[in-house]
Amino acid sequence: MKAGGWTAVWFRAAAACVLTLCFGCLHVVTLKSQPLTRFGGFPQSTGPPISYETFYFGQKIDHFGFLEDGTFKQRYLVADKHWQQPGGPIMFYTGNEGDITWFCNNTGFMWEIAEELGAMLVFAEHRYYGESLPFGQDSFSDSKHMNYLTSEQALADFAVLIQNLKSTLPGAQHSPVIAVGGSYGGMLSAWFRMKYPNIVIGALASSAPIWQFPGMVPCGDFYKIVTQDFAKSGSNCDANIRKSWKAINNVSSTASGLQWLSEEFSLCTPLKNKNDAIVLKNWLQETWVDLAMVDYPYEANFLQPLPRWPIQVVCKYLGFSSTVSDYQLLHGVSQAAKVYYNYTGSTSCLNTSQTATGSYSRLDLPGACTEMVMPMCTDGIQDMFEPEEWNFQAFSDECNAMFGVRPRADWADTVYGGKDIASHSNIIFSNGGLDPWSAGGVTHNITDSLVSIMIPDGAHHLDLRYSNDQDPASVRAARAIEVKYFQKWIREAEKTASKP
Ligand SMILES: *[C@@H]1O[C@H](CO)[C@@H](O)[C@H](O)[C@H]1NC(C)=O
Ligand SMILES: *[C@@H]1O[C@H](CO)[C@@H](O)[C@H](O)[C@H]1NC(C)=O
Ligand SMILES: *[C@@H]1O[C@H](CO)[C@@H](O)[C@H](O)[C@H]1NC(C)=O
Ligand SMILES: *[C@@H]1O[C@H](CO)[C@@H](O)[C@H](O)[C@H]1NC(C)=O
Ligand SMILES: *[C@@H]1O[C@H](CO)[C@@H](O)[C@H](O)[C@H]1NC(C)=O
Repeated sequence: MKAGGWTAVWFRAAAACVLTLCFGCLHVVTLKSQPLTRFGGFPQSTGPPISYETFYFGQKIDHFGFLEDGTFKQRYLVADKHWQQPGGPIMFYTGNEGDITWFCNNTGFMWEIAEELGAMLVFAEHRYYGESLPFGQDSFSDSKHMNYLTSEQALADFAVLIQNLKSTLPGAQHSPVIAVGGSYGGMLSAWFRMKYPNIVIGALASSAPIWQFPGMVPCGDFYKIVTQDFAKSGSNCDANIRKSWKAINNVSSTASGLQWLSEEFSLCTPLKNKNDAIVLKNWLQETWVDLAMVDYPYEANFLQPLPRWPIQVVCKYLGFSSTVSDYQLLHGVSQAAKVYYNYTGSTSCLNTSQTATGSYSRLDLPGACTEMVMPMCTDGIQDMFEPEEWNFQAFSDECNAMFGVRPRADWADTVYGGKDIASHSNIIFSNGGLDPWSAGGVTHNITDSLVSIMIPDGAHHLDLRYSNDQDPASVRAARAIEVKYFQKWIREAEKTASKP
C-alpha cells in the first residue's frame, strides 16, 4: 500500500496540484534498470527462482447488477510444482493495487511453504491493475468506467475464480483454499474470509489496516509510528526532521534560497516559487513515510534499492545535536533524501513529482475517493510533521472536483464490520511494529481464531517476504505460527470433508 499520502500529503499539495497522486492519471512508476555495479546487483528476491504459468479468466465486469453484462480477462498465475493432488491445499494470493507478477515475486513466504504444505499457489490480479483492465485502455477514462473498481467487486472476482478452478482443475474439487495477502491485499484476504467463508477456510492478512477508517483509530497514529521509527534510529533524527519544515519555509522565501535548495537537493526541475517549496515538503514527507514502510533488516529492493535498516543510514545525516543554521540542517536533509533516491549512485537528479513506488500503482488505494476513506492527521508534537487536521468535508470536495464522486465515509464500517468482527473465524492479522500501517491494523487477539501476531522489528509485511539470514527472530517466529495455523485449518477442513 502506498503511503498515507492520499489524505494529508495529497491534500496539503492540492493547491500545487500533485496530479500523480490522483486517480485521473494512473501512472505505474517502474524502477529504472540500474547498472548496480557498486553492490553487485539487487536480486528481486533472495529465494530460489520462481516459475509459474499465466492464465486469464473471463470475469463479469459487474457482479452485483444485471444490466452491465460485459466481461473482461482477469490474469492469474499458478504454480503447482509441489501440489499434492487430489485435494492438496491452494494458497491464494488476493492481489492488490499493482501488477500481480510483482506481488508474486515479493511474496517469497508462499514460495517457501508450498512444498511443506503440498500446496498449489495461485496469485490473482486485482481488477483495474496490471493486465486485468475491465475496459482496456479506457478503464480510467472517466468515473463511469471506473465505477467497477471496488473491493467488493474484487472479492467477487476472487470467489468466482476459485469456484471455477475447483470445478475445472482435476484434483482440486475438495482442495481447501487459504487466502493470503499483504497491505491492501491483506485487507482483501481478511474480508474475503469474512464474506466468503464457504470458499476460503482461513486467511493471513499481513500488515492489513482494516481499521484505518473513520472513527476506528486515532487519525494521528500512522504518522506517530513513522516518527517513532526515526526517533529509534538515531539521536535527534526526528527532532531535526521536525525542524526542517520551518527551515524550508525560511530558505524558500527568497529567490536565492530557492535556487540553493534546488541545487542542494539536485532537483531535476528548479523550485520557482512558494508552491514548489510546498511540493518539496510533501515529497519529503512521503519519502519519510515510504522509508518507514520498507525499513527492512537487510539490503532490499521493494519500493527502491536500499541499504539494510535504511532509516539508520538516513539518520546519520540528521544527528545535529546543537542548533545549526537552516542551511546546514537542510544539507543534512538532502543527504538523507539521497539515501532513499540514490543508493545505487545512478540517479542524476531528484524529481519531486515522483516518489519510488516499485510496482505499487500510483492509483494508491482503490476507492480512496469512494469507499475507503482513511483519515490521517498530524500535530507536529507527537509526530515530526507539520500540523494538519483531518478534514473530511474538504477531502470530499476534492474528490468531487476531480472525479465527480463523493466518498461514503461510513461504508467500510457497514460493509466489513468495523470493530465488530468477533463472529468471524480463522484469520491471522500480522503486523510489523515499525510499519505505520500497523496503526490501523488488528494488534490484539479478538478470539481464539481471530489472532494477531506482532512482529516488533518488522516493517510493511516483512513476514510475506523471502526468509533472510538477517531476519529478526520475531519474524521467524511469526512465520512459524502462521504455518501452524494453516496446518490446523487444513486438518479441520479435511475432518469436515470426510464426514458424510
Ligand atoms: C517478476 O520476476 C520475473 C522473473 O522471475 C520477471 O520476469 C518479472 O519482470 C518480475 N516482475 C516484476 C513486476 O518485477
Ligand atoms: C526560521 O526563521 C526564524 C525567523 O528568522 C528563526 O527564528 C528560526 O530559527 C528559523 N529556522 C527554523 C528552523 O525555525
Ligand atoms: C548519486 O550518486 C552518484 C555517485 O555517488 C553521484 O555521482 C550523483 O551525483 C548522485 N546523484 C544525485 C542526484 O545526488
Ligand atoms: C518527473 O516526474 C514526472 C512524473 O512522473 C515526469 O512526468 C517528469 O517527466 C519527470 N521529470 C524529469 C525531469 O525526469
Ligand atoms: C494471540 O494469541 C497467539 C496464540 O496464543 C499468540 O501467539 C499471540 O502472541 C497473541 N497475540 C497478541 C497480539 O497478543
